[in-house]
Amino acid sequence: MSSLAFQDLNMPAAIITEPAELLAAVNQQKRMGKRVGLVPTMGALHEGHLSLVKRCTSEADFTVVTIFVNPTQFAPSEDLDKYPRNLERDVALLNAYPVDVVFAPSVETMYPEGASTSVNPPAVATSLEGELRPAHFAGVATVVLKLFQLVPADVSYFGQKDYQQTRVIGDMIRDLNLPVKMQVCPIIREADGLALSSRNAYLSEQQRLQATALSRALFQVKSLYDQGESDATLLLQAANQTLADASINEIDYVALVNKQTLRPVEQVDDDTILLGAVYVGSTRLIDNVLIK
Ligand code: PAF
Repeated sequence: MSSLAFQDLNMPAAIITEPAELLAAVNQQKRMGKRVGLVPTMGALHEGHLSLVKRCTSEADFTVVTIFVNPTQFAPSEDLDKYPRNLERDVALLNAYPVDVVFAPSVETMYPEGASTSVNPPAVATSLEGELRPAHFAGVATVVLKLFQLVPADVSYFGQKDYQQTRVIGDMIRDLNLPVKMQVCPIIREADGLALSSRNAYLSEQQRLQATALSRALFQVKSLYDQGESDATLLLQAANQTLADASINEIDYVALVNKQTLRPVEQVDDDTILLGAVYVGSTRLIDNVLIK
């Protein structure tokens, strides 16, 4: 493919499925001194993903969006098989932006027969999600490192919605001296506060209403902190009560932790983040709010 093929903003993104072709296309741009941006996704794109794409295309000269439902980050009991997949729809959404390449590899391409190397994720991977989903962050870190290898980007874009994931990837970049910057972009919410997620599609109409209690509980804590309350136990009680009032009874965690270490705090301060993971029906939802 000629370098000119990537220059015209009105052209649809090139869809690449082979790693060697992707690497060659990215290296060609780098040789021309272009700033390369990477947006890794699992598809089923929504406005949250598109906000990352918008930011990337406005800051980078050459944007690669990856769409790959990564099996190694799902536990056998999780929703890998039913995770929504619609490449045609995703590509149509991406073509509203000057995206240069969509990389959509197969599972066999990313994990060829015999592949057995994986990343041992950093310490921030052990609490919260890591406690409940022990292999999850090894799967995330491994696939993200592979994507960084295939797309030697200057900057990569991730959403704050998966806050612990951003901490894991940030520490991996630091610990392994990876030559890529990470930009974390804010959570995009529905008008009623629900954080956008591909998994919201699983919710029935009634569950969709119930789900708003998660963000309500988190923002209530922030507002109590703003009014002067800093006792973590009291603040968590208030959040749990809001969830109980909405009949959300299956709570994986609601935690006030230091935003760097992800370790629980007793007294909340400006460096605290509140994270929650709950089930609404059989759908697991996560959300978080930075206290400051
Ligand atoms: O956040 C996601 O969609 C995924 O965890 C990621 C970063 C694309 C890795 O599969």
